[in-house]
Amino acid sequence: MWFFLDIFLSVFLFVYCFLHHSEFFSPFLPHTDEDPLQPVTSDETVPVGGTVTLTCRVAESDNSSLQWSNTAQQTLYFGGKRALRDNRIQLYRSLPTELSITIADVQLSDEGEYTCSIFTMPVRTARATVTVLGVPSKPQISGSEDAVMEGETVTLTCTSTGSKPPAKIQWYKGAEELTGEGCRQYVNPLPDGLTYNVSSTLSLTVSSNDDNVPITCAVNHPSLALGDKRSEQALRVLYSPIIQIQPEKGLPREGGKFSLQCLTNGNPEPANYIWERRDGDLPLLAKPDGAVLYFSMLNKSDNGVYVCHADNGIGKSSGEYTLQVQDPTAMSTSSGVDHAVIGGVVAVIVFILLCLLIVFGRYLIRHKGTYLTHEAKGSDDAPDADTAIINAEGGHSGADDKKEYFI
Ligand SMILES: *[C@@H]1O[C@H](CO)[C@@H](O)[C@H](O)[C@H]1NC(C)=O
Ligand SMILES: *[C@@H]1O[C@H](CO)[C@@H](O)[C@H](O)[C@H]1NC(C)=O
Ligand SMILES: *[C@@H]1O[C@H](CO)[C@@H](O)[C@H](O)[C@H]1NC(C)=O
Repeated sequence: MWFFLDIFLSVFLFVYCFLHHSEFFSPFLPHTDEDPLQPVTSDETVPVGGTVTLTCRVAESDNSSLQWSNTAQQTLYFGGKRALRDNRIQLYRSLPTELSITIADVQLSDEGEYTCSIFTMPVRTARATVTVLGVPSKPQISGSEDAVMEGETVTLTCTSTGSKPPAKIQWYKGAEELTGEGCRQYVNPLPDGLTYNVSSTLSLTVSSNDDNVPITCAVNHPSLALGDKRSEQALRVLYSPIIQIQPEKGLPREGGKFSLQCLTNGNPEPANYIWERRDGDLPLLAKPDGAVLYFSMLNKSDNGVYVCHADNGIGKSSGEYTLQVQDPTAMSTSSGVDHAVIGGVVAVIVFILLCLLIVFGRYLIRHKGTYLTHEAKGSDDAPDADTAIINAEGGHSGADDKKEYFI
């Protein structure tokens, strides 16, 4: 029973202290009262090789001297006076209320706590922590020197050294970031004990579409203000040919020339092509020349399915084309130019018919009396009403012509 009460009390006390920790621990925390003579500094972060400015300010001055000292408690500047011979360290500003210094070409060994003191009674101090970032080297990609077969898995390794804290490596295929299972990052401390060797492996199963696609390794790090550092390497994938047969433009007309081209996409490009005609030999006037099959004179008997086979050493593929030889007079309907020509001819015919109709209409009004007899005359040997009208019109004027030409 007492045991449980003990536990309850301990838990209560712990929770109480936790919730009111600031008041509870206040005697142990630094004073936050406004003391106008208390120097104020700020922590700084700087990449290796960079320049850092350390600023120490007091709200009011009693003309006591300000002083900066380094991580080894050596005085750097006392007021405006240099105390340590190091050309990297320069005075930036010295006022009764401020002492600022710069440290150029910062090294990893410059990291640590710097102290600003003001020689009041008693001496007041403030500390500034300088964090030095190790700058990662440009990443190096290895492992994709040789071309790989489609369907195989390629493993690439990207390494960057010298980062502190460890850098982050990202992989991209084209513009797409690759994440997940295939990517593994390893972090190893370097012998200097301060910086890291970061490497990442990428396992990727490649397809024919990946041939010549760039793989990018990007190193991200807070020290890289201008963006990440990258390296790129193109994948090389070997794959069987993919075949498409492209016929020559225009219709294959009997008696005319024609050609078929075997378009292949493969790595490497196929060196040899074989043309065949399904169910039979190639026609005598069809001559294969590498990727092209030439027909010097088409004949309807050439109709059939033509097959192109290609082998690039990785694999074999074939493509087919069904040839259908047209009449020598066949009009192509697939081309836009032909549509325009047909449209133009139709428009001219319609225009002529309209003109004839107007002329005939005027004629009709003037010769109303004779129309019936003329129409009857025209309709005798006309197959339809339109022809009858034209015949009737022509018949009238044609009567005199006949006299002129045939008598
Ligand atoms: C600080 O020094 C300046 C001149 O050197 C003097 O005018 C000023 O009164 C001094 N201030 C204090 C608080 O001693
Ligand atoms: C960094 O790590 C990679 C892979 O673990 C290794 O091949 C390389 O030699 C290392 N580089 C240095 C400088 O330690
Ligand atoms: C097509 O071939 C047949 C026999 O193979 C021949 O009789 C005919 O004249 C040929 N046509 C043309 C347009 O060459």
